[in-house]
Amino acid sequence: MTAQKNYRITLIPGDGIGPEVTSAAQKVIAAANINIDWEIVDAGEGSIARHGTTLPDATLESIKKNKVALKGPLTTPVGGGFKSVNVTLRKTLDLYANVRPVRSALGITFHHNPIDLVIFRENTEDLYTGMEYEVAPGVAQSLKIITEKASTRIAKAAFEWAMKRERKLVHAVHKANIMKKSDGLFLDSVRKVAEQYPKITYKEIIVDNCAMQMVMHPEQFDVVVLGNLYGDIISDLAAGLVGGLGVVPGANLGDDVAIFESVHGSAPDIAGKGIANPMATILSANLMLRHMGESKAAARIQAALVLFLSEKKFLTPDLGGRSTTDEMVEGIIKKIKLLR
Ligand code: NAI
Repeated sequence: MTAQKNYRITLIPGDGIGPEVTSAAQKVIAAANINIDWEIVDAGEGSIARHGTTLPDATLESIKKNKVALKGPLTTPVGGGFKSVNVTLRKTLDLYANVRPVRSALGITFHHNPIDLVIFRENTEDLYTGMEYEVAPGVAQSLKIITEKASTRIAKAAFEWAMKRERKLVHAVHKANIMKKSDGLFLDSVRKVAEQYPKITYKEIIVDNCAMQMVMHPEQFDVVVLGNLYGDIISDLAAGLVGGLGVVPGANLGDDVAIFESVHGSAPDIAGKGIANPMATILSANLMLRHMGESKAAARIQAALVLFLSEKKFLTPDLGGRSTTDEMVEGIIKKIKLLR
């Protein structure tokens, strides 16, 4: 018998429903017999009271050392207050690709045709650089920064991923008809990368049309590459096609470090009530397991989720049920044990 591998991974429980959904993912991973020594560190709004900062140095050091992290959502105040810790983390660790698989494989969708698309959102620039100014009273300016370097590497990440998984089509999403310079540069950069992958069909679509097409005919999309802001909006829209924010996972990938987290936020409206859907974080943990080479365990958890959902029992309120997070996790773990 081969010895069971032990992993050391950083865990950021996060704000709001974060601790509830990350502990659910920990339990599910343990049930699939993967031994992880979790290094639990702080970040976010809650970290201010405990450490006097939203992002302690120890947190960054832990992620840099372990190379892999599972993260709960972090609150960012609207309007004023501190800067987004998520954006700081992604920029500091150069996690340039935000990858979000959107699949109807779990069986929660209103569409008849199967949806199986993957969003590659550029994660380090665009309107997220935080360069905002009040130019004059009553006039504000936010700078949209697009570089050839960042656009090229997100495009490469998308095409490489498509090649490795024998995907057929990549869409670039833009608004270069209006933002001719910034989105124009993004599009030029993606086109140059596309030329290096002649086996993959390359298409371009304007972001407003993309939103409409994705609602009406999501099955036409395969791999979708977008800038930071369009990626944020379109991926939430896509999440709505397959069961909502409670079920869509994500990965923030750099060349050296990877952080896995769900698409949803800290959901302050339901935090502490014990009714958060843990599925998105469990699926994010599953992406993490695949990244670690534990594909067998990931496949077992995925199969358990499909089996669990097919019975339509023990669902949290966002999925139309009345169950708690804990009841749902218990139900999923029972299925994992069945699939031993
Ligand atoms: P949100 O995703 O937290 O919530 C939107 C709606 O979806 C709410 O009604 C919420 O109850 C529901 N929802 C979200 N996740 C759910 C789950 N797992 N189970 C059941 N229902 C769920 O988005 P919102 O309200 O825009 O943002 C709240 C906070 O989260 C903000 O401070 C925002 O900045 C932060 N945020 C953090 C993210 C991250 O850390 N990656 C991503 C998105 C938002």
